[in-house]
Amino acid sequence: MQVEIVSSIDNEPRRYQFDCMPGDAVYEAAERAGIRLPLSCKNGVCHICRAKLLSGKVMSGNQRQVVDVTGLEDADSKEIMLCKAWPETSCVFEVRNIYAPGELPVKNIACQVLKVEVIKGYVYQVDLQLPAGKTPEHFAGQYLALDLPEREEPAFFSIASRPGLRTITLHIQADPHLESAREVIQLLSSAFTEKTVVSVSLPYGEACLVKIPDQPLILMAAGTGFAQMKSIIEYLISQSYSRPVSLYWGVRKQDDMYLQDLAQEWSNLHANFHFKPLIADIEGIKDNAHHNQLSDAVLEDHPKLENSMVFVSGSPKLVFSAMDALTEAGLPEAQFYSDVLAYASRD
Ligand code: FES
Repeated sequence: MQVEIVSSIDNEPRRYQFDCMPGDAVYEAAERAGIRLPLSCKNGVCHICRAKLLSGKVMSGNQRQVVDVTGLEDADSKEIMLCKAWPETSCVFEVRNIYAPGELPVKNIACQVLKVEVIKGYVYQVDLQLPAGKTPEHFAGQYLALDLPEREEPAFFSIASRPGLRTITLHIQADPHLESAREVIQLLSSAFTEKTVVSVSLPYGEACLVKIPDQPLILMAAGTGFAQMKSIIEYLISQSYSRPVSLYWGVRKQDDMYLQDLAQEWSNLHANFHFKPLIADIEGIKDNAHHNQLSDAVLEDHPKLENSMVFVSGSPKLVFSAMDALTEAGLPEAQFYSDVLAYASRD
C-alpha cells in the first residue's frame, strides 16, 4: 500500500510517498523510508503524531477501529495518531511538519550534566540530560556542539547514545597533553558539581543513518571515534537489524580501547555482529602503517565491498587513506561515509 503525507515547512508545501507493508503502523513505514514524524509516546497518548486522514481507510487507536474517509470531501477528514494507524488501503495524511531524509532542524538547548566519569585511562563518559518533553531529534551517528561560555569556540563531540533517549552520552579523550579536552572536562565537572546547565546544539553531521540500511555495514573507528559507531550499533540493535555489521576499532594503546567488553558483548549476543579490536602499539611503527591497519583488516575480511555501506571515524589522514584503499578495492565512493569529508581536505 502507498502512503502519502502532505505537509508544509516554512509555508513550503511538501509531499512524501512511501510503501507501507501490511501490519506496519504508518510511523514504522515512514521511519523505514527515512522520513521522521514527530513522535514521543508511540502509544496514542501524547498526540504529538496527530494527522488528518484525507483519503483512504485505516485501523486506528489501541482498539483498532476502522476509520474510512474514502470518497468523502477534505472537510470530512478525520484526526488520527500516526503511531497507532495501520493502513488498510492506500492513504493520504496531512501532517503539520515533517522532515525528509537527512533533514533535522538544529536546536539549542540547556542540559543538565548527570555524569562525568573516567571509563578507562583518560577517556571520560559524560552524560547530559535533555529537558523533559523537548528531546531534539538526531540520527544515529550524528554529533553535537557544546557551547561553554568560558571557551571561545564550541567543542564538537559524537553522540555515543542512540536516538530517542533523554540522556545523551559523550566519550571524551582527555590525555594530559590534550589541553582543550582537559579544559572541557574540567568545565563539565564544575557544572556537574554546581548543578548548573550547559548549552548544547544539535544535531550535526551527514555520516549517519537517516533510515535503516538494507545492506551490510562496515564500521571503522579510531580511538573515541567508537562513540559514533556505538550510537549506530545500539540504534540498529534496537531496530532488530539482521544484516551483517562488522566493527573494526583501532587504538594506539590498550587503555584507549575503553569499552572493549561492550563491543565483545554485542558480538556474543548478536550473530550478525562482528568485532575486531586492533591495538597499534604505536611505538616504533610508522604513522601510515598505523592508518593502514584498519583498512588492511577490513580488506582481509571483505574482499568484495560493492554492496557494503562503510562508516569511518578518525583523523583526516586515516579517513582519506581508508577511502583510497577501499574504493580501490571496489567500494563505490557514494557508499563511503565520514564527517571528515565535509570539513577536511586531503592536504
Ligand atoms: S507518539 Fe504519542 S500519540 Fe503518537
